[in-house]
Amino acid sequence: MTIETASQAAYLVAALLFILALGGLSRHETAAVGNQLGIAGMALALATTTAVTVHDNVPVTNLVVLVVATALGGGIGLRRARVVEMTGMPELIALLHSFVGLAAVLVGWNGYLLVEHAAHGAEALDLQSQDMLGIHHAEVVIGVFIGAVTFTGSIVANLKLSARIRSAPLTLAGKNLLNLGALAAFVGLTAWFCARPQLWVLVAVTVVALALGWHLVASIGGGDMPVVVSMLNSYSGWAAAASGFLLDNDLLIITGALVGSSGAYLSYIMCRAMNRSFVSVIAGGFGIVGVPAEDGDVGEHREMSAEQVAGLLSGASSVIITPGYGMAVAQAQYGVAELTRKLRDRGVQVRFGIHPVAGRLPGHMNVLLAEAKVPYDIVLEMDEINDDFPATDVVLVIGANDTVNPAAAEDPTSPIAGMPVLTVWEASNVIVFKRSMAVGYAGVQNPLFFRENSSMLFGDAKDRVGDILRAM
Ligand code: TAP
Repeated sequence: MTIETASQAAYLVAALLFILALGGLSRHETAAVGNQLGIAGMALALATTTAVTVHDNVPVTNLVVLVVATALGGGIGLRRARVVEMTGMPELIALLHSFVGLAAVLVGWNGYLLVEHAAHGAEALDLQSQDMLGIHHAEVVIGVFIGAVTFTGSIVANLKLSARIRSAPLTLAGKNLLNLGALAAFVGLTAWFCARPQLWVLVAVTVVALALGWHLVASIGGGDMPVVVSMLNSYSGWAAAASGFLLDNDLLIITGALVGSSGAYLSYIMCRAMNRSFVSVIAGGFGIVGVPAEDGDVGEHREMSAEQVAGLLSGASSVIITPGYGMAVAQAQYGVAELTRKLRDRGVQVRFGIHPVAGRLPGHMNVLLAEAKVPYDIVLEMDEINDDFPATDVVLVIGANDTVNPAAAEDPTSPIAGMPVLTVWEASNVIVFKRSMAVGYAGVQNPLFFRENSSMLFGDAKDRVGDILRAM
């Protein structure tokens, strides 16, 4: 068997492992196995690429660069993954996407320097016909464009998410025209480059794409940023696929397409869960701008002590817990899991209601609850549990706000009108765990806090859950 055949077979196995990994990641029960399959696929891909490079008799200095870069990148990645907080995940992911974008730009430029720029480059790369050369021109320019948009877009997303720049949307006059103009320029420049592959055209495409990526994401408000991160994930996939075409690497094409399509689908699901228009978010049409809480006639809120909540829970036969971002911040999931065990031991039916965008990234709550060993079968999606609230004695809203806001369902003028929410207010008693009367992520007032059947339990969620456990 030649090295060529062996490497193609290994790439095929790696691609299958990536597909199985995605399948595994779609369910709680199989997520850990899915992750391991993904790691195995990536290890196989790296080992094969290294073996092919060694076999190609490349200069030893190149091999040293390969080993050092792999070790350095792997080491930094391992350390960052160990120390990153769950809440800091979206900004880290955004940064990682920027690397994929940059890599695609460099691969595109490298392709240009090797073929279009070099004399007899076509022969050097075995591009037998003029047609193949034309395809190469298109691959270069498209790869550079998608990569550059992903690169600057991801950097802006990272800066916004880490609060190093303001998250409010940038509203330049005629911003949609600017975006459309950049796209039109790209189409024109691509046609030019395919006809006459000149250096200045590639420079112009790179500059236009860098500016477009920056402007697109700068125009999107902080509220839509997680959707943008997932969309950039998709772009990074397509950028990798474009690099795969240039490098003639099937695995990169398949992997890029998997990332590209799954990222686009995830963005679509998130938009649907927040009742946002996918096209508007991507075009930077609108973002949720923090609206200050209205102090008007919102009514009186009631408070309960942890001891009173413990008493209420002791008399309950059914409890639903709806966690949100505050549970993640407080790291209250272990106490919540302990409380769940105690209540279940006493014969109380305890279930969790998970909103699709609770927290700050898809699956945020599921990961935290799994970490704290909450059984999967009592963790239900919003659609699975929403009909059960009227027959529920107590709902514990732990650090959630927007995802349980009745204004979304009842007030057509609310900025979050139409967003599907957990209808917790239909239960007999609702206890809201939070530290103050402050608004949630979308910056809108929550009428739930002032309902007859609601009571606030103020303080850090972890401390208050601990108090309830002690009182029980
Ligand atoms: P949020 O609306 O973000 O509210 C979280 C609440 O937790 C706040 O009201 C805060 O109130 C409270 N909190 C913070 N720290 C706390 C602590 N240590 N102890 C107790 N409470 C604490 O939460 P949510 O209901 O999960 O909604 C998520 C939001 O993110 C939605 O607007 C959603 O659209 C947006 N979003 C999410 C995603 C994904 S994929 N998850 C994507 C895009 C957008 P205090 O400050 O008073 O404590």
